[in-house]
Amino acid sequence: MCGIVAAVAGRDVVPLLLEGLRRLEYRGYDSAGVAVIVDGKLQRLRSAGRVAELTAATAQNKLTGNTGIAHTRWATHGAPSEKNAHPHISGGIAVVHNGIIENHDAIRLKLQAAGYQFTSDTDTEVIAHLIHRHMQTAADIFAATCAAVGELQGAFAIAVATEAEAGRVVVARRGAPLLLGIGDGEMFAASDASALLQVTRRMIYLEEGDVVDLHRERYEVRDAAGKKVERPIHLSELTADAVDLGPYRHYMQKEIFEQPGALANTLEMVVNAQSLSPQLFGVDAAKTLAEIDSVLILACGTSYHAGVVARYWIEAIAGLPCIVEIASEYRYRASVPNPRALVVTISQSGETADTIAALNFAKELGHRHCLSICNVPESALVRLSDLRFLTRAGPEIGVASTKAFTTQLAALVLLTLVLAKLRGRLTAANEQELIQALRHLPAALSHVLQVEAQIKEWAKKFAAHDHALFLGRGIHYPIAMEGALKLKEISYIHAEAYPAGELKHGPLALVDKEMPVVAIAPNDALLEKLKSNMQEVHARGGQLYVLADRDARLVSSAGVEVIKLPDHAGILSPILHTLPLQLLAYHAALVRGNDVDKPRNLAKSVTVE
Ligand code: M6R
Repeated sequence: MCGIVAAVAGRDVVPLLLEGLRRLEYRGYDSAGVAVIVDGKLQRLRSAGRVAELTAATAQNKLTGNTGIAHTRWATHGAPSEKNAHPHISGGIAVVHNGIIENHDAIRLKLQAAGYQFTSDTDTEVIAHLIHRHMQTAADIFAATCAAVGELQGAFAIAVATEAEAGRVVVARRGAPLLLGIGDGEMFAASDASALLQVTRRMIYLEEGDVVDLHRERYEVRDAAGKKVERPIHLSELTADAVDLGPYRHYMQKEIFEQPGALANTLEMVVNAQSLSPQLFGVDAAKTLAEIDSVLILACGTSYHAGVVARYWIEAIAGLPCIVEIASEYRYRASVPNPRALVVTISQSGETADTIAALNFAKELGHRHCLSICNVPESALVRLSDLRFLTRAGPEIGVASTKAFTTQLAALVLLTLVLAKLRGRLTAANEQELIQALRHLPAALSHVLQVEAQIKEWAKKFAAHDHALFLGRGIHYPIAMEGALKLKEISYIHAEAYPAGELKHGPLALVDKEMPVVAIAPNDALLEKLKSNMQEVHARGGQLYVLADRDARLVSSAGVEVIKLPDHAGILSPILHTLPLQLLAYHAALVRGNDVDKPRNLAKSVTVE
């Protein structure tokens, strides 16, 4: 995952920036770079390798300076290259960036028409040139960055330095984490607190849309509306070997809110891509994926739910038959193997005993093509599979899986689209449209997280009950399953999920005024059917809690509470609808006083049968 470190000080900041990058190494990266201002000139060094190599290069070049920005970049398919490593420069302005700029194509065209020349394949270079362009009319680098940020769409964090204004760094955040470190006569910024512990424990966690002007002795924060604001200083209690909670109370809460960034990291490879390549899944993937005639998905728990969502995508979009099995069942079942099937295992940890055993069993049965979707690169599952896709959720500490799930869904969308393309079922226009939708996804998730205050109100009511039902239809049925699993796992409220059409075949008998019923109601082809199912609940006194799209014609009334999601995502809708359910479980568990991160009887990695 990409990392940012920035500093303005009275001393040489190069060792501080490099140490900051070194502390971010655990997040994974494959190139690194630093830019500092030396005697009014910007000097940049980049390396398509480790921070240690960059450090050696800075020593060799005797690089020193009092103002600087640095970055680790986790490149994607194809060789990570020096030309794509950050910082990117335009004139005397340098920029580092995490996240996705959705409208980089449109801005690039505009800048090219104005004479700007591009030397990398990144969306970051667009930001550098855009700020440079605004510098022609803006009063200073702060004003130019504010103007440029106003033109950017997407979820991102940036740091900017210019040789024209040494002793000043500007940073901005929207949808990707960024914090300030307040030193004594020196100021810092980073994407993760662990990078700054070497210099200060006084941190400010920036809010959505903040742009900050950093000088040695002072800083100014402007909010999304451009208003000067104060942000509270937080004293970090992070120890060197722990993952900081930052402003959050629990890892689960932190991980829920990290999802825009986690998805941006996972989808980084499609940001600049003009097309989707099978190589996303490994160098030999094109041949294998073209050969297969069906898909068999094996997984447990939340990862299994990701697989069930994928079945809807794979069959509808790629036109391939897809079976999803709970790994602990599959491994003991006498099934009929199909050597032409692609066996997909999904796991956050890559160490789940049942999933590993299921994969080994599938191989024993004669399955030949194996792909794992996993969050841990060195895990057993990844090592056992020929093809792989590594989600970039970052470490997930809360036992309840959150960002691992949504990044798995992102990986499975990519798999679906690649399979569809190989089968001639994806037009070039559709492909472009879907790439654009994927670019927008992190920003859409940031918008959805804004429903937290409304969800808290629901959670207070749920916490008073011992049972709940979750309803969904079609591809949102597995999202209902995931919502029910989250709720029971950490709040200990008994929850069941049903495809809404099944209600009248039995579960309706459970519905009375004591039964809260969550309905996942996206504005899709099944909405009218779902409305009838909701009527069945309403007529029996059940309390309905409806998660609708912003354009659905559903309104709150007696016994029906509707929350509308502020964004709409088409085929990506299951990813958006997951977040309010995670928040519901989290807040219900809090109201009940449960240990959210370590629910009773459960372990993070289930490495035993
Ligand atoms: O590491 P894995 O994804 O293989 O784990 C599978 C399940 O144990 C896991 O998803 C479990 O269901 C979570 N605690 C759910 O939040």
